[in-house]
Amino acid sequence: MDIARTPATPDGNPEMADAAVEPHAPALIRRKDYAPYPWTVVATHLDFDLGLDKTRVEAKLTLERNPAAEPSPTIRLNGEGLAPLEVRCDGEPSNSHTMDGDDLIVTLPGDAHELTIVTELDPAGNSQLMGLFASNGMLCTQCEAEGFRRITFFPDRPDVLSVYTVRMRAPKAQFPVLLANGNCTAEGEEGEHHWAEWHDPWPKPSYLFALVAGDLVARSDSFTTMGGREVALNIFVRDGDLDRTEHAMESLKRAMAWDEQIFGREYDLDIYNIVAVSDFNMGAMENKGLNVFNTKYVLADIDTATDGDFDAVEGVIAHEYFHNWSGNRVTCRDWFQLSLKEGFTVLRDQLFSQDMGSAPVKRIGDVRVLRSVQFPEDSGPLAHPIRPDSYQEISNFYTSTIYNKGAEVIRMMRTMAGEEAFRKGSDLYFERHDGEAATCEDFVKAIEDGAGLDLGQFRLWYSQAGTPKVTVKLSHEGETATLTLSQEVPPTPGQPDKQPMPIPLKIALFDRTSGTHRGEQLVVLNGASETLTFEGFEAPPVLSVNRGFSAPVRIERDIPRDDLTFLAAKDDDPFARYEAMQDLVVGHLGDVIGGGLDTEDRDVGREAIRTALAAVLADGRIDDQMRGELMMLPSETYLMEQALVADPGAIHAERETLKAWLGQELGEELVGLHQRASEGPGTLDAAAQGARKIKTLALTYLAAADQQRASDMAAAQYDGATTMTDRQGALMVLAGLETAERTAKLLDFYNRYRGNDLVIDKWFALQASSLHPQALAHVKALREHEDFTLRNPNRARSLYMAFAGNPQAFYAASGEGYRLIADLILELDPINSQTAARFVPALGRWRRIEPGRAALMRGELERIAGASQLSRDTFEQVSRSLG
Ligand code: TRP
Ligand code: ZN
Repeated sequence: MDIARTPATPDGNPEMADAAVEPHAPALIRRKDYAPYPWTVVATHLDFDLGLDKTRVEAKLTLERNPAAEPSPTIRLNGEGLAPLEVRCDGEPSNSHTMDGDDLIVTLPGDAHELTIVTELDPAGNSQLMGLFASNGMLCTQCEAEGFRRITFFPDRPDVLSVYTVRMRAPKAQFPVLLANGNCTAEGEEGEHHWAEWHDPWPKPSYLFALVAGDLVARSDSFTTMGGREVALNIFVRDGDLDRTEHAMESLKRAMAWDEQIFGREYDLDIYNIVAVSDFNMGAMENKGLNVFNTKYVLADIDTATDGDFDAVEGVIAHEYFHNWSGNRVTCRDWFQLSLKEGFTVLRDQLFSQDMGSAPVKRIGDVRVLRSVQFPEDSGPLAHPIRPDSYQEISNFYTSTIYNKGAEVIRMMRTMAGEEAFRKGSDLYFERHDGEAATCEDFVKAIEDGAGLDLGQFRLWYSQAGTPKVTVKLSHEGETATLTLSQEVPPTPGQPDKQPMPIPLKIALFDRTSGTHRGEQLVVLNGASETLTFEGFEAPPVLSVNRGFSAPVRIERDIPRDDLTFLAAKDDDPFARYEAMQDLVVGHLGDVIGGGLDTEDRDVGREAIRTALAAVLADGRIDDQMRGELMMLPSETYLMEQALVADPGAIHAERETLKAWLGQELGEELVGLHQRASEGPGTLDAAAQGARKIKTLALTYLAAADQQRASDMAAAQYDGATTMTDRQGALMVLAGLETAERTAKLLDFYNRYRGNDLVIDKWFALQASSLHPQALAHVKALREHEDFTLRNPNRARSLYMAFAGNPQAFYAASGEGYRLIADLILELDPINSQTAARFVPALGRWRRIEPGRAALMRGELERIAGASQLSRDTFEQVSRSLG
């Protein structure tokens, strides 16, 4: 990485840290400024008079001075866009309150007070989907991270825990269901209205508050915990969606049982409610006893959801459930500790999914996500440690680094400790910090003490950003194999110099004649460089390294192609085998794109890949799910990430050329595979899922080689499909072709699923991410489609995220792709700034792209930066991206 070009960002450059320097720049919040809140909110009573465009909120806060904090004569309550209609202190109208920006300041002379505040909201007008908002005629809340301040004035920070009692009153016919956290303690009717009171016995921060009111129906079930508590389970959806909730319910019960068995965690209320909403900024939210979910992660049946969708539902249901301990019972002291709950909970949901299905396939998939999303983030202008030091807008820090790298960091601790010792550490963590707002340091300390590990130097993983590069060399002399490992953590914004971090690497040395090894070992690279020797090798062994992806690092191995071919065929670690396949292709495409390769050398490289892929297609020892993994070519994003400065046009062209050549060379085998896989049943078992996976993968190779043949096969697959996986897979392939079947099947799909939002999202996404040369023009046309709207985040993402992830279209040499995304950001920002800001990183990659395109990308970022009235979310992402 080019150090000289490392941008000075607000977090890196102390001069820029003061908001006063740049009047446009919002204040920087710093981790080191943490101070406990001067007041404790012993109890919070909320009274809602609900209506779609007018809701009145009366909040009663029972306050006591916090003896652990600096005393203050006032209390600062956060608000956002609120006006205090009434403020009463101990029952008397207050005459001492003032506003400071959006915050309410009240003078409090004594040690204990009761403060009552009335606010009024317009949920229907809330397009940001933070706070209380309307979605399809229902009302619901989203408070993490700072949405509660859009409902009432409150110390809206995660270390202020309070016991909530919520009363809701609403027109009965319009909102027959009224829900909040905890248990329903009373309900009644008043003419056309009804009311319900809910009480949550567990103290919680405001970000875990939730309320739902609407015309909903529930799938109900129950779960008996290990302690014998019977928990009522309900999944609330719109009438008509009920028959698509079975998988979510089964997943929930499996997650509850798994968390008891594997982590010893039992549920702690009598009721667990899940509500699905169609307008939602993210996947789901773990509100105590009342999870709110994006419909995308609840609704699934075989006709409308793919196998991948089923897995995602299971994973997200589990994730939110696991938060009940890792997040709710033990929460975060401040938002810099976000990875404390998110990294740990992602690890927990990954381990759960590994246990529910194929562990190696799940691991490979998780690594693929990490490398295609988190690695680029970590090598770009938005790189940040898993525990950041500063931010302007916390919503921007719900990143792949916090979530996925955070999970990898904890997974490394588990790998070093071993499962049993790690469990002792996690037990100690929950025991020590139950009911508290904790820090990442508390977590590390608990694992250290409970597992008996020294994590002194390991803590650097929390403070240093950037993906370490580990260089691996193996030499052989006499009977000794010598392994040299060295590491380098690249500079990132604000962090020019890095220290070496402990890197646990699982390795094995293979005997190349027998094809076996003497056992896997774990080596931990602590220093900048280390040398290890292994005795008793008459011939040079083949090294398999970072098995199971034991560390989230980039490996640079000086390995002969023959050794990669060996590992691709023989490695008994499925991840390492996958990795060898990937490296074969990455190495070859790197050589081809780098130029200077003569035809003969190119053919040798191609031939090695063809042989390896042919062996994968024919290998009787692996299941089809694993076969599918081994068949996947490295993504263009991943290939771009391998280059210091990437040429997306060349990468796309060469990858397609290779795919076409493989499709040509292995045509018979691929057709045979497609045929064999087409005989599988339309069921959800692993074998049937595996067959569907390789079926569509086979088509992608064939499509590159012979459009018409692939088009006919895809059309037949489409027509015969009894599952969404087969139908969508076929349509995905067709969408990239220029055949008559393309148009026919796209139209059929639309008509068939019209009215089913989640499936129509797929229809938009398929076209926006297609290999079709006119994909960009298609996106422009789809923007005008009657079913398109920017107000629904799923729909906005289905078109534009898919487009931003379509390298050929997004990186069009003309720069039109960048303009399209910049226009979208500007248009979406005033409607939903959180969602708009998530499109910025695509443009932020400019430094790593060839100069012609880089200038165009930068130009679009500058155009956004020049707009008036940018949200804090988008402003921060754009200014950091410009550096
Ligand atoms: N905490 C949630 C999770 O990881 C995600 C989340 C954070 C979220 N902020 C949000 C969801 C805003 C919706 C809107 O499970
Ligand atoms: Zn989470």
